[in-house]
Amino acid sequence: MATKKNLVANRAALTHKVRYAIGHPHRIAPYVKRAARDRWLAFKHPDHVGYYRAVMASDTRRNPEAAVGSQTHDRWLALGKMQFDYLREHGLTPQSRMLDIGCGNLRAGWHFIDHLEPGHYYGIDISPDILIAAKQTLTTQGLQEKVPHLTITQDLTLDFLPDAYFDVVHAHSVFSHSPIEIIDECLAHVGRVLAPGGFFDFTFDRTTGTEHQVLREDFYYRTETLIALAATYGLKARFMDDWETRRHGQSKIRVTAS
Ligand SMILES: C[S@@+](CC[C@H](N)C(=O)[O-])C[C@H]1O[C@@H](n2cnc3c(N)ncnc32)[C@H](O)[C@@H]1O
Repeated sequence: MATKKNLVANRAALTHKVRYAIGHPHRIAPYVKRAARDRWLAFKHPDHVGYYRAVMASDTRRNPEAAVGSQTHDRWLALGKMQFDYLREHGLTPQSRMLDIGCGNLRAGWHFIDHLEPGHYYGIDISPDILIAAKQTLTTQGLQEKVPHLTITQDLTLDFLPDAYFDVVHAHSVFSHSPIEIIDECLAHVGRVLAPGGFFDFTFDRTTGTEHQVLREDFYYRTETLIALAATYGLKARFMDDWETRRHGQSKIRVTAS
């Protein structure tokens, strides 16, 4: 069963917040706590990457699985498998070379690493804390022989990676936490690292109404904004209808070089 998405709400609007608070009074205190923490972190880290890295450090300290968005271990397992099953259905083979942008604690990454030939998985993330948790997942799953790359990054210029190398580039639940400048930077550079015939899949929080953000943590975009942005870099982008049937709140776009 597909997850029902609310595509019209503007979560940044005061009216939405008040209505939501009346319907979910138990969520008011945690929201206020999170908003206060986020304000403090934003004050200390004016740039988005620095800010989000601090959010991840704080969340990962409490629970790495919750830090990547899964409130229970069962959901963490299910979300990882969902990503893996989708890409396998879309042609991911053991020989594929994969770049996983915002790999987190390898919720999906451990499936990819298990499936791919040694050295074929490359995970990058802005958060050192979540990458330490990623190494823990790798160890728990006994995947040392697969020698994946797990690398910290400051930006998405991908300048340390070779030309025309990756068959699959993937960013799950990363642009849902990214201002448009970061998505723009990624789209400006991803074409260079895509192998011939390769594709870049990313998920995003979709709105059909006003684009907005909440606490600088969650960003909502219109499909046409992202497709048009890809086109400015000569990339083709299409909305993946078959992802909509999965139990996931975000939508997916696939980008190809032509
Ligand atoms: C919600 S988690 C998802 C992790 C993983 N993709 C998954 O599905 O399990 C988002 C991850 O993206 C990372 N991230 C956020 N912004 C990033 C950026 N600009 N570049 C690279 N990683 C980023 C975060 O540190 C976090 O680990």
